[in-house]
Formats: sequence, C-alpha cells, structure tokens
Amino acid sequence: MDRIALYWRRTARWQRTRRGNEGRRREFLLGAFALGGLTPRSLLSASEARRPVSDATQNADFFVRNHFATPKISDETWTLDVTGIVTKPVRLSYPDLLLMPSVRQAVTLECAGNPPGGTLAGTSVWSGVPLAGLLKQAGVREGASTVVLHGADSGDGEGIPPGTHFARAIPIEKAMDPSTLLAYEMNGDPLPAAHGFPLRALVSGWYGMDSVKWLTRIEVLNQPFAGYFQQERYVSVRGNGGRQPITRMQVGSKMVRPSEGEEIRADTYRVEGLAWAGERKVAKVQVRVNGSGDWQPANLRASPAAMVWTPWSYDWHIPRSGQYTLDVRATDEDGNTQPDARDPDRKDAYQLNTPHRVRINVRF
Ligand code: MTE
Repeated sequence: MDRIALYWRRTARWQRTRRGNEGRRREFLLGAFALGGLTPRSLLSASEARRPVSDATQNADFFVRNHFATPKISDETWTLDVTGIVTKPVRLSYPDLLLMPSVRQAVTLECAGNPPGGTLAGTSVWSGVPLAGLLKQAGVREGASTVVLHGADSGDGEGIPPGTHFARAIPIEKAMDPSTLLAYEMNGDPLPAAHGFPLRALVSGWYGMDSVKWLTRIEVLNQPFAGYFQQERYVSVRGNGGRQPITRMQVGSKMVRPSEGEEIRADTYRVEGLAWAGERKVAKVQVRVNGSGDWQPANLRASPAAMVWTPWSYDWHIPRSGQYTLDVRATDEDGNTQPDARDPDRKDAYQLNTPHRVRINVRF
C-alpha cells in the first residue's frame, strides 16, 4: 500500500473514533497532509499555548553535538519500540507518530560542555508527542524508576568500548513530565538528519545529552541504567573523587552583541543577549563594565518562561574612548546566580556557567 493510501486509511480509522470540532479540524489537516504531502501542523491546544515562542535559532545555525557518525535512517522502515517493565509493549512507525495528537513547544537546548559565551546552546520550536502519553499507552508497571532512551548511533573511539551505542536514562518522574517530548519537527521542518531524524527526545530544562537523537527504543527499568554514557560521561567529579550525574541546566547567559574584539564608534551602545535557567525562570540579568564596578540591571524583553531563553538588553552610556570588558550574569527565580569563578574543586569540564566576558575597543 502506498503512503497516501496508508494516511487515508489511518485518517478514516481516526474519523470513526473521534467526534467534535477539534476532531473535524484535525481530520481536515490530516486530509490535507495525505493529499498534498504537507507536514501535519500541530494543533494549538491549551497545553501547547502555555509557553511563549521566543527567539528561535535557525535550523542551519543550531549547534550539532554527536559522539558518533550520523546514522542513515529511512522513515519507511524505522520503528520505535517501548519495552521493559510495561504491560503492553508498543511498536510505532513514523506515520503512527505523526497521527498522534501533537504538541509544540519552544525549548532551549544547551550542551553540558558549553563554555561561557559558547555556541553550544540554541532554541527551537519543537513539535512532537509527550513521552508520558506513550508510556501510559504501554502501561508502566509498578516499581518503574528509570526510562532509558536508546539512539541508533554507535561506534568506538575516545575510549568508548567497541559497539557501544548512545543511550541515556532519565528518572520516571522527568519522563512523565508534560515538558518531556519526542520531537519530530524543528522550527516547522522535519528534524534534520544531524538533529535526530526521524525522532529525538527533548528533555526540556536538562542539559542536551539527555535529548537522545535517532531514537529507536525506550526501555522502562526498575533499577538504575549502567550504560557507558550514563556512568562514564556527563558526571561531575570532585577533588575527593565524588561523582554526581549531570542533569538540570544551570542558570546561564551570553552576549550576542557586541562580539569579542568588536570596535564600537559611538558613546551609547545597546548590549544585547540571551539568558536561561533550565526548568526555572530567569529572575534578573546584570551587566558589569571593566570587571570592577557594580553589576547593573539589564532589561528583560519578555516575561521569562521556564525551559526557554529570554532576550535581554542593556543601554550602555560610554564615558570615553578606550578598551573595555563587559561581563553578563543571570540569576534564576530561586536566587541562584552565575558564579564569578569556577568552583576550584570541580575536576570535570561540565556546567561552565561563569559570566560571559567580551573585550571591545571604543573610539568616538
Ligand atoms: N543523541 C545521540 N543519539 N547521539 C549523540 O551523540 N549527543 C547528545 C544529544 N543527543 C547525542 C545525542 C548531546 S551531548 C547533545 S548536547 C545534544 O544531543 C545536541 O543536540 P543537537 O546536536 O541537536 O544540537
């Protein structure tokens, strides 16, 4: 059966089981999808409208962080399995997923190794299905504590045991949170291959390593997961050898303009940037000139939302020409401020959230 016929059959089946306006709207869109080959648009429900769309990063500009080569996956043959301690294991095809009620959320992803002012952070509007819905469909059994997200990519190198595939586990509570998605669209386009086509996890508010790309299997466990990328990577290490898994994003910020080494030829300048705080909201952003003076308040452009970065600006009145440094830091709603210096006891290179500094030259 060709794909169009398949979509019509699914639409007809869906028609028989749903009623009401919402159903008729969706049916229309699915019909349009089948006829014109359009990507089905997410229907905006109350939960989808919850988070405002903030400044998104273009797909072509969005950072890519891969441990292995990008696997080649055909949406015709790809399937997603939900297995482990569930009452009804589930297998879904790509069209099955597209026909499920979808949500759309703006979410900021940051790599755990992003340095201050680094490019390993971006915001997209992601469309997909909440992971919780799929887990409920599979019937998670009592005692479930861990959900493992398995990717299709594997390989060796960098000390990785041969044949290891990329997999990460999250606690069942985070998996069941409505903000944890299985995303198949990025800024309205099908996920680009580099970002996980056909499906990736999106563990909102946690560092990027948990947002597993090229998902093939979701496994529910009643014990911790002992995978290589769970135990050997993405762990904070202390001087006394203490190790803690990296999970939630910490408060962070960056300047977008001016950039490092820029020359400014004016006595006023609007400094602009972005600030984020993972699962929490940004409470304030501050800018400091020449590393010594007081921290000055910046203006937040919109009221901050959790999970997504907030643009900010600072109108800088420059007293005289010369060389300057500008620093920016943010504070989250729980009062956590970006630290002035890296904790000297940290022996790993994750969560590098000291203030972003740029050096500039002013001549007027
Ligand atoms: N998923 C798989 N399957 N393989 C990977 O190497 N890298 C992780 C995560 N998901 C990775 C993965 C890391 S470390 C990050 S920061 C994000 O993907 C980056 O997502 P992006 O490449 O879409 O920006």
